[in-house]
Amino acid sequence: MNLQKEILKRRTFGIISHPDAGKTTLTEKLLLFGGAIQTAGAVKSNKIEKTATSDFMEIEKQRGISVATSVMAFEYGGKTINILDTPGHKDFAEDTFRTLTAVDSVILVIDCVKGVEEQTRRLMQVCRMRSTPVIIFVNKLDRDGKDPFDLLDELESELSISTRPLSWPINMGRKFKGVYLLYNNELNLFEANKTKKSKDVVTIDDISSPLLDKMVGSEDAEDLRNDVELINGVYEPFDEQMYRAGLLAPVFFGSAVNNFGVKELLDTFIRIAPEPQPREAVERVVEPGEEEFSGFVFKIHANLDPKHRDRIAFLRICSGTFERNEFYRHIRSNKKIRFSNPYNFLAQSKNVIEKAFPGDVIGLYDTGSFKIGDTLTEGEEIHFKGIPSFSPEIFKEVINTDPMKTKQLEKGIEQLTDEGVAQLFRQNPGNRKYIGTVVELQFEVIKYRLEHEYGASCRFDPVPIHKACWMTGDEDKILEFSKYKPKEIAADKEGNKVYLASSAYVLQMARQNNPDIEFHETSEL
Ligand code: G4P
Repeated sequence: MNLQKEILKRRTFGIISHPDAGKTTLTEKLLLFGGAIQTAGAVKSNKIEKTATSDFMEIEKQRGISVATSVMAFEYGGKTINILDTPGHKDFAEDTFRTLTAVDSVILVIDCVKGVEEQTRRLMQVCRMRSTPVIIFVNKLDRDGKDPFDLLDELESELSISTRPLSWPINMGRKFKGVYLLYNNELNLFEANKTKKSKDVVTIDDISSPLLDKMVGSEDAEDLRNDVELINGVYEPFDEQMYRAGLLAPVFFGSAVNNFGVKELLDTFIRIAPEPQPREAVERVVEPGEEEFSGFVFKIHANLDPKHRDRIAFLRICSGTFERNEFYRHIRSNKKIRFSNPYNFLAQSKNVIEKAFPGDVIGLYDTGSFKIGDTLTEGEEIHFKGIPSFSPEIFKEVINTDPMKTKQLEKGIEQLTDEGVAQLFRQNPGNRKYIGTVVELQFEVIKYRLEHEYGASCRFDPVPIHKACWMTGDEDKILEFSKYKPKEIAADKEGNKVYLASSAYVLQMARQNNPDIEFHETSEL
């Protein structure tokens, strides 16, 4: 069947890392292999600068540019690969979390010098919540990093996932000689080279072969033999099912900037990474092979040019075939919508498409009808689960400073929070509105956009809120707790009750005193 063939061909994934570990470099090398770009440096220019100043317009502009690289599709080894870009910049961590709801697997890049870092932990937390299969690429082996065995231990203990090395480095830093591929006994010798696509690979029948001594020297050959013996003694053979269940991460070592170890990673990726997977909806599980189309919006990008108020909604196709100019049902508004210019992102350019299949991500022009998490179907009432909200870090109250523009302010706040720029919590009585973000910068962005796009003006007053916690558990107890603390209870955009704890201590006390209520720092419960 045609649809089944298209599904089996697709691999949709994201590359995640703490900033600077080498995500952009690795992405670029993968695109080079896929022929999607011709020269190194093409992806780099789209990156949000790490030296970001408080000039948020500049950051937004760069973010705007990155729309072009939000999805990068290319063909390799008979597969259609969709890389979903996840901003490394921590100001856009929420974007990244949401993008992870649209992938079927991830590649996690680790800097061998730094090991597990803050963003690595948070991103992996999201992957674990969804049991997303993970392949780990330990990067920068041309630098003196941590001992690989220590690194594996660190990955396991810090990320709560089992690991299984599939390649093994021979030295590091200036003495780095290459990697030994544990799954097919190949020796891949290192030579710093930033442009070459393939490398000299030597196949060794047996690790005790004298050829190994000849290639890397007796001392390193002996060390490698000892390491391999240890690995085979300590680690179970690689289990693909465990990987697909998100319980076991195969580990590769290499150097992205030198294009070393990248091909092995890509070849293994297309062999083991899952094709588009079933998606859980509130009503039922949706299989990609179902005839009827369904998909959900995981990202919305606004056009910063005030003359063009349109936005781009990114839709992940979950089942069936999407077709241009067909009417689809927008579940939230119960309206039929048709798209005359849906596009894909093949080879870094936008092309209008006639059809798209499960696993594909398409861009839809939107004039304000979409919200993150929205579903489109051929008619069936489906609500896809799992677009999580995390408790913001900074909270402020919105104070309207132009009463004549109340409506505009309401609309602006509604739409900007639909885009996922920030989270909105409403408190009744009093109709107070709190905006929560991860970083201060977002308040400036919101204020600027409210003024320029909606003609509304407001002020943000600080409020003593430490965390927003979604509550589950005994309904009566939640009701009682909410009555007792009306000033600390608000509703999120979906109308879910949240507890706005004023400090870590207060939250701890609330947890202690209310054992029948669970306080979650994420909305995906
Ligand atoms: P990110 O997207 O995860 O933030 O990381 P990015 O790829 O931009 O890489 C961060 C820095 O690490 C870059 O250096 C990049 O060249 C370097 N890098 C990537 N892979 C390797 C590697 O295998 N070995 C070594 N030694 N360095 C690597 P930069 O100085 O920030 O940028 P550039 O001036 O090199 O472009």
